[in-house]
Amino acid sequence: MNKPHKSLPEPNEAAKARSQQLTERIRQHLNRAGRLSFADYMQRALYTPNLGYYANGLPKIGDQGDFITAPEISPIFSHCLANQAQQILETLSEKNILEFGAGRGTMAKDILLHFIENDWPLDHYFILELSADLKATQQATLKAALPDEWYQKVQWLERLPKQPLQGVILANEVLDAMPCERLKFEPDQVSQAFVTFDETQQAFQWDYRPITEPSLLKQANALLPYIGEPDHKGYFTEINRHIAPWLQSLSDLLTQGLVLLIDYGYVRQEYYQPARHMGTLRCHYQHRAHSDPFFYPGLQDITAHIDFTAVAESGFDAGFKVAGFTTQAHFLMGSGLLQANPPHDAEITEQLKFAQQVKTLTMPDEMGESFKVIALTKETDIPLIGFSYRDLRHQL
Ligand SMILES: C[S@@+](CC[C@H](N)C(=O)[O-])C[C@H]1O[C@@H](n2cnc3c(N)ncnc32)[C@H](O)[C@@H]1O
Repeated sequence: MNKPHKSLPEPNEAAKARSQQLTERIRQHLNRAGRLSFADYMQRALYTPNLGYYANGLPKIGDQGDFITAPEISPIFSHCLANQAQQILETLSEKNILEFGAGRGTMAKDILLHFIENDWPLDHYFILELSADLKATQQATLKAALPDEWYQKVQWLERLPKQPLQGVILANEVLDAMPCERLKFEPDQVSQAFVTFDETQQAFQWDYRPITEPSLLKQANALLPYIGEPDHKGYFTEINRHIAPWLQSLSDLLTQGLVLLIDYGYVRQEYYQPARHMGTLRCHYQHRAHSDPFFYPGLQDITAHIDFTAVAESGFDAGFKVAGFTTQAHFLMGSGLLQANPPHDAEITEQLKFAQQVKTLTMPDEMGESFKVIALTKETDIPLIGFSYRDLRHQL
C-alpha cells in the first residue's frame, strides 16, 4: 500500500504490483540489516535488478515517461558536445568516447551522426549503462540510425575497462541519479536520514538519527559555514558521496583527454544557502516534480542537485585539472549553437520548432542556467571552446 498523493496521478494496477514487490524486497533487506540509510534506499529504489526505477523496463524519458533530458529536446545539444569532443580527439592518437548512462541512446546517435557528417575519425564509442532495458533501447536506436561500419564502433561495457583510455568521457544527468545521503542540521546536532517502514501506513518513512560515522560527520561539519545557524525546524540537505570515488576511477582510467559532466546544480556557496532549507531532493513521476521519495518505490525517478564545488574538488584530488565550468547556455554558445541553423528550405513550423528547442536549452528560466557543465582534463592544456564565452571557474 502507499498513501495516494492528491497532486499525482495514480499508477495502474500492474505498476502498483511491481512497486509492491520492490517495497517488499527493500523491507526484507531492512529487517535483515536492521537499518537503511537514505542512500541505500535510493540505490535500491532506482537500481534493484528488474524492479528498480532504472531496471524495470517502464518508459522513463520522453512523453510516455517521467522526465525529458536535453539530448531529447534537440540534436543541437549533442552536436555541440560532439564539437567539444572533437576539439580534444583531433589532438589524440587514440580517439575514443565513453558515455555513462546513455538513456535512450539519443545523444550517442546524434554525436555519432555528427561525426559521420563531418568526416571525423573515431575508434570506439563505449557506453556504460547500468540499466538492462535502457541498454536494449540504446542498441535499437543506434542500430536503426547508423551505418553498420559505425554501429560496430559502439561497445557496451558492464564495468570500466581495465586497460587505460585516451579520449573523452561524457555524462549527461548521471551524477544526479547517483544515490545521495540526506542530512538534517539543527541548532545542537547534525543527523543522517535513515528509512524505516511504517506498518500502519504500510509505507516507508524518514527516521533521522545523529551522525555516528566520523567521515560523514566531518563532511557535514564542513558545510556549516555555508548553511549558517539552523533554526529548530532544521535545515535539510543532501550530500553525494559517490562522486569522489567515481571520479577517482575515471582518473585511474583516463591517461589523456577530457571528462565533460552536465547536470543541474550549483556552486557550494549557492547550494547550501539558508534559503534552500528543504534541500534539493526531487522526484519525477509522469512529468510532475515533487519531493516524496517514498511515493511508489520503483515507479518514479529520485534525484538531487549537484554541488559543483564538490565535483571540482574531487576531480582535482583525483588528479584532473578543472579546465572549465559554465552554464549550459554558455557552453552551447561556445561549442556551436550560434552556427546551428534550421535547414534553409525548412517549413515555417520547423523553423519555429527549432527556435523553441534552442529556447528550452538556453533560456535562464528553462535549462540554460540551472544546468551547468564542468570539464576535467588530463594531459592537455587546450583552451576548450565550450568555455570560451563565459568561464565561471572563479565561482567554484
Ligand atoms: C536521468 S538518466 C539520463 C539519461 C541520459 N544521459 C539522457 O541524458 O537522456 C540517468 C542515467 O544514469 C545512469 N547511471 C546512474 N548512475 C550510473 C553509473 N554509476 N554508471 C553508469 N550509469 C549510471 C542511469 O542508469 C540512467 O541511464
